[in-house]
Amino acid sequence: MDYKAVMKLALERGFYFPSCEVYGDAHAGFWEYGPSGVSLKNKFLELWRRELIRRDGMLEIDGSQIMSRSVFEASGHMGNFADPIIKCTKCNSTFRADRTIFDITKIEIPENADLNEFDNAITQNNIKCPKCKGDFDKTKKFNMMFKIGIGPEDEEAYLRPETCQSIFVDFPRLFKTMRGKLPLGIAQVGKSFRNEIAPRQSLLRLREFYQAEIEVFCNPSKLSETYRFSEVQDTQIRVQTDAEPISMTCKEAVELGIVPNRFVAYYLGILMEFYEKTGIDITKSRFRKLGDKEKAFYAEVAFDFEVETTIGWLELVACNYRSDYDLSSHAKKSKEKFEVMDNDEKILPHVFEISMGIDRSLYTILEHSLKNDKEHERTVLSLKPYLSPIHVGILSLVKKDGLKEKTDEIFLNIKRKYDAFLDHSGAIGRRYRRLDEIGAPFAVTIDHQTLEDNTVTIRKRDSMEQSRISISEIDSILSESVAFP
Ligand code: GLY
Repeated sequence: MDYKAVMKLALERGFYFPSCEVYGDAHAGFWEYGPSGVSLKNKFLELWRRELIRRDGMLEIDGSQIMSRSVFEASGHMGNFADPIIKCTKCNSTFRADRTIFDITKIEIPENADLNEFDNAITQNNIKCPKCKGDFDKTKKFNMMFKIGIGPEDEEAYLRPETCQSIFVDFPRLFKTMRGKLPLGIAQVGKSFRNEIAPRQSLLRLREFYQAEIEVFCNPSKLSETYRFSEVQDTQIRVQTDAEPISMTCKEAVELGIVPNRFVAYYLGILMEFYEKTGIDITKSRFRKLGDKEKAFYAEVAFDFEVETTIGWLELVACNYRSDYDLSSHAKKSKEKFEVMDNDEKILPHVFEISMGIDRSLYTILEHSLKNDKEHERTVLSLKPYLSPIHVGILSLVKKDGLKEKTDEIFLNIKRKYDAFLDHSGAIGRRYRRLDEIGAPFAVTIDHQTLEDNTVTIRKRDSMEQSRISISEIDSILSESVAFP
């Protein structure tokens, strides 16, 4: 189903909604996760930890969201983390130059392009302010970091625009205290902040958003020696360089020179295996190799992992080979030592980054899972059972005759182990529909027969098949079905 249907579901079933919505002065680009959204996010992250962090033996940290100016001077964000903006000379409205030009002319100019390119496109195509038809001033750069003042002295600091900077800054301590060995992945999940000029489309362009970032520190002279490569060499990935995406195995991608080495291909492979398990339709995915003008300022080689949705291709993950850009900048500015030993060799590691946008990933999972089942006049969120916000609904057919008490007892026995939802009221058909919409793979109904023989009806979300099982079987059915793969 489409963006509008996902938004309706999100608002009505507690996935996400605008922040501060009871006030008229709420700012765009800030959204909140409700209980269903939090539950989905937690499970998504558990899968991420299983499939990437634990699989690869990475370390996970949890750093500060507020960081000093020095960090961003060294990282290059003070100078380079800026979007091109244009301001109307008549009504003073400000727009992103690349987006406005694209919306009006369909001409694509990368956001990192020279500012003259935007000005030329505006003049040549006679582009005027979309609000008042006034003329635009020259294109300028707008730094997207949120500046904040610390303490009564108002000391300058910034909300981090990417979680990874603390991974770089903490690298010497982590490598030493955790007895690191290259290649070493260090990961972090958390909020990042960008003062977007045109936040839009709910979770898709936020000013405050979640990232799950992995920085893999490696010896640049050993990028072909990745011994775990054999685990993914036959994994299919879809790679796009110029024209259409082409399916190939990780091994073929390296042999054809499309992916530069086994090291990078290994991480693209495990990332693909992770996304396959989220339920996203990976036949609609691609690793798109970015051109020089599209890459972030710190990236030497970059692949965006993108997935097709009803509103176009969405970038879910940026995979950047950042070389020693970050470590050498922080070493120079802080005067600390960032070199480490790799066997007998002293080196400054290079970094390959897998920077995942959590919010966009969750949106894509929802869109790809939401189905309109016309035959049964219902909407079904066919999430993988291990990602479902609710594993099982526990329903009493009616409240009277002791059924409520029996239902409460069953609920009490499973609620610590599973995400169970207790529901005593309403027509049973409508209760099933609500559980279908929230993605609960099972509903268990307690009726008069339950009191006689300790059996219940279990209904499956996707097939709507119902069967009679004994109460003692509920646990084994659930534990098998909702377990992570
Ligand atoms: N760390 C890369 C990014 O935030 O896009």
